[in-house]
Amino acid sequence: MITVPLDPSGPSDPSDTRSQDVPDDDSEALRLRRSSRDAAQVPGRLAEFLAQVLPAGAEPEVAVEAGIDQNGMSSDTLICKVTWRECGAARTRRFVARVAPAEHDVPVFPNYRLDHQYAVMSAVAELTSVPVPPVRWMEPTGEVLGAPFFLMEHVEGRVPPDVLPYTLGSNWLFDGPPEAQRRLQEETVSVLAEVHGIPDAAERFAFLDEGRRGDTALRRHLDWCRRWYEYGAAGIGRSALVERAFTWLEANWPTEADRRDPVLLWGDARIGNVLYEDFRPVGVLDWEMTAVGPRELDLSWLVFAHRVFQHMAESAGLPGIAHLLREEDVLDAYARRTGIRVGADDLRWFHVYSAVMWCCVFLRTGARQLHFGEIARPPETEALFYHRALLERLLDDAGDGGGAEAAGTGDAAGTAEAAGDAAYGGATA
Ligand SMILES: Nc1ncnc2c1ncn2[C@@H]1O[C@H](COP(=O)(O)OP(=O)(O)O)[C@@H](O)[C@H]1O
Ligand SMILES: [Mg+2]
Repeated sequence: MITVPLDPSGPSDPSDTRSQDVPDDDSEALRLRRSSRDAAQVPGRLAEFLAQVLPAGAEPEVAVEAGIDQNGMSSDTLICKVTWRECGAARTRRFVARVAPAEHDVPVFPNYRLDHQYAVMSAVAELTSVPVPPVRWMEPTGEVLGAPFFLMEHVEGRVPPDVLPYTLGSNWLFDGPPEAQRRLQEETVSVLAEVHGIPDAAERFAFLDEGRRGDTALRRHLDWCRRWYEYGAAGIGRSALVERAFTWLEANWPTEADRRDPVLLWGDARIGNVLYEDFRPVGVLDWEMTAVGPRELDLSWLVFAHRVFQHMAESAGLPGIAHLLREEDVLDAYARRTGIRVGADDLRWFHVYSAVMWCCVFLRTGARQLHFGEIARPPETEALFYHRALLERLLDDAGDGGGAEAAGTGDAAGTAEAAGDAAYGGATA
C-alpha cells in the first residue's frame, strides 16, 4: 500500500490538517504502536519458526535489518538476514517477512487476507514469467509474531519512492534518461499483460471473491470498495465527494467491460510497488488489493496513480514527469502485448473508481495520523484527499452536476459504451 506522502503540496492546504499541539515523538500516542519489547522478540521467534520449516539441524539465526526501530515494529515488512546450516555448510540469505497489520496500528483495509496474497503470488510465479519474489513459508495462525505472516525471498532492486513522491525529483527514476524511463513504463505494462493473460481466472481465483456480494466480478469489487469506504468513514468522517462519485459510478455502469471475462488483477498496480533493476521489473510486490475483475481496473490504477503523484508535483509548482505513464502510451503498449485495445473512453469510469479507492486509502491513512496524534481532525473530510481536484474534475468532465441529477448521464454512458465496443472490435484475444 501507499505510505502517506507528507509533502508540502497537499492536501489542499496542509496547515488545515496539522495540529497546533502535535505531540513529541515519545508521546503516549506514539507509544501506542507495537512496543519495542514485542519487537525485540521477533528475531528469536522467527528463528524458532524457521527451525521447524527448514531441514533438521539447520539451526537458523535471524537478524532483522529493517522494519524495526527503537520504538518497535515500524512497518509490516521486515527484512531479515537468516543464517543456517545445510549439508554441513553455513548458508546466509535475506528474506522478507510480510506481516498482517494489527488492528491497533489502524490498518488501511477492513479485513486483510494474507493467505490470498500468498496464494496469488505463488500462482503468478508458477503460471507466468512475471518476476514475483518467490514466496517460501506462510504462518497463518498469528501465534509466532502476534499476526499471520509469510516469508518471501529478498530481491535486490530499487523502488520509485512514495515518500516523497518520485515526481518531486531527486531520485533515480526522476533523474533517469527518458529512454530508460520509457523502458520502465513498457516493461511494467508487460507485467499487467502477463498477469491478465492467466487463463480461467474467474474459476482459478474464485476464492478472492469470498464474502463479496454481487452477480458480476465488478459488482463484487464495488461491494468490497463500498465496505472499505464505510470503514474509512466510520474512522474519520463521511465524504460528500466520495458519495457523489459512488452515485455517478452506479448511474454510469460500464456494462460492456463488466460483461467480458474477468482477469486476475494485480490490484495495487503501481510502479511504486515494483523493484526495478536497470529500469526493468525484478520484483512485483504488494498483492494486497489483488482481485478478479475487468482488466481496466489495473490499467486505470497504473495511469491514475501516476496522475496523483504528478498532480502533487504540479501543485507544488514542479514539473513532475509529465511524459511518464500517459494514458495513450500505456494503452498502446498494452495493445501491442495483448492484442486487446482498451480505449481512453473505456477507462473514464475506471478512473473515477480509482479516484474513489484513493479516497479510501487517504481516509484510512488520515485516521491513522489522527490516532497517532500526527494531525488534527480536518475541518472537512475532503481535506485528506491529495487528489481531490482530480476527482472533482473527473466528475465535472463526466457531466456530473454534483447532486441527485447526476443520475441523468445515461447518454454519456451509452456513448462511452459504443466507443468501447468499437475499440474492442479490433481485439484479437
Ligand atoms: N521481496 C522483497 N525484496 C526486497 N525488498 C522488498 C521485498 N518486499 C518488500 N520489499 C521492500 O518493502 C517495501 C514495501 O513493500 P510492499 O510490498 O510494497 O508493502 P507495503 O504494503 O508496505 O506497501 C518495498 O518498497 C521494498 O522496499
Ligand atoms: Mg507497497
